[in-house]
Amino acid sequence: MIERSRAPDLRGFERIVFFTGAGVSRESGIPTYRGRGGIWERFDYREVACQRAFARDPEKVWDWHDERRAEALACEPNLAHRLIAEVQREMPATEVVTQNIDGLHQRGGAERVIELHGSLWRVRCDREGIVKEDFSHPFQPRRCKCGDWWRPDVVWFEDPLDHETIRRAWTAIENCDCLVSIGTSANVYPAAELPLVAMRVGAVTIEVNPEDTPLSGLYAHCLRGPATEMMRRLWPES
Ligand code: APR
Repeated sequence: MIERSRAPDLRGFERIVFFTGAGVSRESGIPTYRGRGGIWERFDYREVACQRAFARDPEKVWDWHDERRAEALACEPNLAHRLIAEVQREMPATEVVTQNIDGLHQRGGAERVIELHGSLWRVRCDREGIVKEDFSHPFQPRRCKCGDWWRPDVVWFEDPLDHETIRRAWTAIENCDCLVSIGTSANVYPAAELPLVAMRVGAVTIEVNPEDTPLSGLYAHCLRGPATEMMRRLWPES
């Protein structure tokens, strides 16, 4: 019988996927989306995070995204981000699939990150079909040279996920022997169903979260606690 609260040593696996959500950045100071003090408790997505809001009032949507950029820039990657990057360096088949748009995995040293919900640090012009990285704050100018608005390259509510990005995530997870889900409430689909792919192929699945989620019962191991502490258990210093 598996002891579900025991943390297996990740060095025992070959193809690890870290599947992360807002909780992995919580200890860096970035608020989560749901729960007390969460972003969606303070803001209405219909005003700031959907295509209809952008069509109605692009300046307001950009102001809000500039605030999110400022918040992320003021925060540093935490130990969980750094240890995930260390696992990727030591075991190069490791993949990071994140729902986060804050860029903290990359700043923490991760080299390959599959960003399911886009990035605060990319903008796109849908008319020209251009996507560009941009780390300035505040983001300026807000209009492309063609005259259209630059749009945050973020998957907003009601947007479809990018087909190629979800294909890469799916392939990584289908081929993994261990999936570690960290800090996601498992409420937002289709991202939330990706860990089920790992379960289907027989990978060892580990959930790290201080709280239960709707999918907790399906994981082989559930580590109840903050990301930094639980990552240290999963990746003990050698
Ligand atoms: N360590 C690990 N997990 C934590 C920590 C912590 N220190 N603090 C909180 N959590 C957990 C919470 O218990 C919760 O289950 O992180 C989870 C955060 O859940 P959400 O706020 O719903 O974030 P996420 O699952 O990433 O949201 C998915 O929703 O609005 C959209 O596009 C947005 O990508 C986001 C998606």
